[in-house]
Amino acid sequence: MTLFTLHNVSYTYLEGTPFATEALHRLSLSIESGQTTALVGPTKAGKSTLLDLLAGLIQPGEGTFLFEGSPVTDIERLRAKVGIVFQSPEAQIFEETVGKDVSFGPLQKNISVAESRRLVQESLEAVGLPYEDFRTRYTYALSGGQKRRVAIAGVLAMQPDVLLFDEPTAGLDPRGRRELLELIATLKHRMTIIYASSSLADVAELADTIHILDQGQCLFSGSPRDILARAEEIAALDIALPEAAQIALDMRSVFPDLRTDVANLAELEDVLLSASIPDRMETQP
Ligand SMILES: Nc1ncnc2c1ncn2[C@@H]1O[C@H](COP(=O)(O)OP(=O)(O)OP(=O)(O)O)[C@@H](O)[C@H]1O
Ligand SMILES: [Mg+2]
Repeated sequence: MTLFTLHNVSYTYLEGTPFATEALHRLSLSIESGQTTALVGPTKAGKSTLLDLLAGLIQPGEGTFLFEGSPVTDIERLRAKVGIVFQSPEAQIFEETVGKDVSFGPLQKNISVAESRRLVQESLEAVGLPYEDFRTRYTYALSGGQKRRVAIAGVLAMQPDVLLFDEPTAGLDPRGRRELLELIATLKHRMTIIYASSSLADVAELADTIHILDQGQCLFSGSPRDILARAEEIAALDIALPEAAQIALDMRSVFPDLRTDVANLAELEDVLLSASIPDRMETQP
């Protein structure tokens, strides 16, 4: 089922002032429910603005925006179904202890303390933070990766059907990045995930569909393989490629027709072994 449909959507910050900036420009795309969708583009492409729109935090200036096939008439219904983890989710933490922070959202709803406790426990376990160990920990003393997990648990505790992530791995060290991508991989089986990234390396193995954004527009969309096959266009947009695809692209100076839709180094090896050796490298008879 199609979850979001956008047709020629534009959005301008500070409309009508000398500081007006058009962040989305006649953007068209659709996002399926149950899938993991990546929004990939360089800085200022409009990724965060698009996520804010999908979360119901801003409304399109122009164009058609459909949620589950209809225009949004009840913004609260959209907000209840869609949870968003912001770019620096550490900033989303404002309580002293982990348990208090994650229970903040559920307690705003009309549910019992026991039910809220169950949601907090489930959400913390889902992000890999054991409840008994973490509920009384001080949030300020957590590591960067742990803070990010607490923020994600806080959003999960609101029981959204759709989870939006804005550059979830930004600023994390390689280990934190790997752990976070593993977490998204486990969550993707239970909910619809939409996430923004400036690197194709973070999305190639996780996403079902990738939309390439630039200057407020969606340039093209496809499966990770479709997108990697266009590595040259992607690199020209200042979007980082996964290692294997980048090496394949670099080797095109020797093998001009080398395929770039390789998911990993093993696939690159296969592609190289079957590549025909260019004329100028063949030995003379
Ligand atoms: N609150 C705001 N007020 C004014 N202009 C804004 C605001 N937020 C974003 N913009 C402008 O809108 C455009 C799109 O920004 P947006 O943050 O959506 O892009 P992005 O792809 O998320 O970029 P980044 O990779 O830097 O996070 C940019 O030109 C940006 O300067
Ligand atoms: Mg952004």
